[in-house]
Amino acid sequence: MTVPPTDSSTVEGVRSVPAGGEAAGRPLRILTLVGSLRRNSWNRRLALAAKSLAPPGVEVVLWERLAELPHYNEELEHAPGPAVEELRAEARRADALLFVTPEYNGAPPSALKNAIDWLSRPAGAAPIAGKPAAVTGGSVSSFGALWAQQVARRALMIAGARPLERELPVGRIHERFAGDRLRDAPLRQQLRELLEELAAATRSEPTAMGATAATRTDSS
Ligand SMILES: Cc1cc2nc3c(=O)[nH]c(=O)nc-3n(C[C@H](O)[C@H](O)[C@H](O)COP(=O)(O)O)c2cc1C
Repeated sequence: MTVPPTDSSTVEGVRSVPAGGEAAGRPLRILTLVGSLRRNSWNRRLALAAKSLAPPGVEVVLWERLAELPHYNEELEHAPGPAVEELRAEARRADALLFVTPEYNGAPPSALKNAIDWLSRPAGAAPIAGKPAAVTGGSVSSFGALWAQQVARRALMIAGARPLERELPVGRIHERFAGDRLRDAPLRQQLRELLEELAAATRSEPTAMGATAATRTDSS
């Protein structure tokens, strides 16, 4: 991976800065959450495919304790419990985030939205504030969980993260695999590109829009 310039403007007001992982001489760490709690989930398989397709210098790490998170409750903020604390620590440690979600009734499963809610607090110190985030996922229908991705992206933006513009809906997800192997070559390439774009986003500062979203979260 090339080292970006550190001092000059690049595109659309986004200034390049050294990435956390690269600057620290370690791989970029992408924390990955899967919205489905099913062990044999297609979306989980997609996340594992992303892990295997990570570009050099990028590490995709799945956090698989979503089912252990309590429902978000502001009254628990003083002692949210070990699962929330671990999730928040993992998010702080990560350079970027990847959300892989199915669609339940036009939205991400509540387990994933719940995780985003936990990650959006404490107000003013949200673990995902300013972090680049990508959203993908699929469903067995041809719509590919697109609505779920749009809802997740909007929630992430309001929570102060920096979701990529690009979504990657995977329709008829069950036909893309041979067992656990993602056999769909174009999709493998799209997934690779999504990870590359996410890695590149860690080398740019938040735009004015990202800053606005974070500010709004902080004051709400
Ligand atoms: C409660 C529920 C609601 C669903 N709603 C939608 C939906 O709104 N749109 C859609 O495309 N698929 C919907 N599906 C189908 C899922 O996208 C499909 O079961 C998918 O494979 C689940 O992901 P997983 O294999 O990763 O668990 C729904 C499934 C369930 C169980």
